[in-house]
Amino acid sequence: MDLIDIRLVQVEDAGSINAIYNYYVLSSTCTFHLEPVTIQERTEWLDGHSDRYPVIVAGCSWASLSPFRPRPAYVGTVESSAYVHYLHHRKGIGRLLMLDLISRAKALGYHSIIAGAEATQYGSIRLHEGLGFEHVAQFKQVGFKFDTWLDTVFLQLML
Ligand SMILES: CC(C)(COP(=O)(O)OP(=O)(O)OC[C@H]1O[C@@H](n2cnc3c(N)ncnc32)[C@H](O)[C@@H]1OP(=O)(O)O)[C@@H](O)C(=O)NCCC(=O)NCCS
Repeated sequence: MDLIDIRLVQVEDAGSINAIYNYYVLSSTCTFHLEPVTIQERTEWLDGHSDRYPVIVAGCSWASLSPFRPRPAYVGTVESSAYVHYLHHRKGIGRLLMLDLISRAKALGYHSIIAGAEATQYGSIRLHEGLGFEHVAQFKQVGFKFDTWLDTVFLQLML
């Protein structure tokens, strides 16, 4: 896929973002949420994403830059997320979303992007590796979902 219409989120997108995301909450270890996100929670999350923390949408997908950790010295580091509707995988959408986020992160002056993935989420890990992210950490059994302890892999792209 060469082109998709990527735009900044609007508050009205909260429902479609949740529709894409909550499928994974109930079916996948790619998110460590255990219960579906409500519209109120999503709206509050969107409110917390100012111009410095963009959320982008493109039809059946969305992606975001969020603070990595709250203490002030982490201000140059952001954490990325990307979610493509489960019926639209492997069409190049996730890669285009991430390229857009990387470009925005550079324009905003960030120093690096961190992406977290549950250790068996090989598609997500390959996506990030293909964009130049390096595997920098694996935390053992930090999550527990579907009766299983889960590792988290952190991948980092220096900008
Ligand atoms: C991870 C995710 C965003 C990838 O989006 P996508 O649109 O399917 O990915 P793309 O088609 O852009 O794939 C780009 C590259 O990533 C890799 N990749 C993506 N999905 C893969 C999979 N299931 N298995 C192996 N490699 C995969 C491939 O290298 C692929 O290039 P190729 O198709 O030319 O081989 C999507 O699978 C998704 O939404 N998953 C659930 C949420 C999630 O895990 N998000 C990431 C963590 S926040």
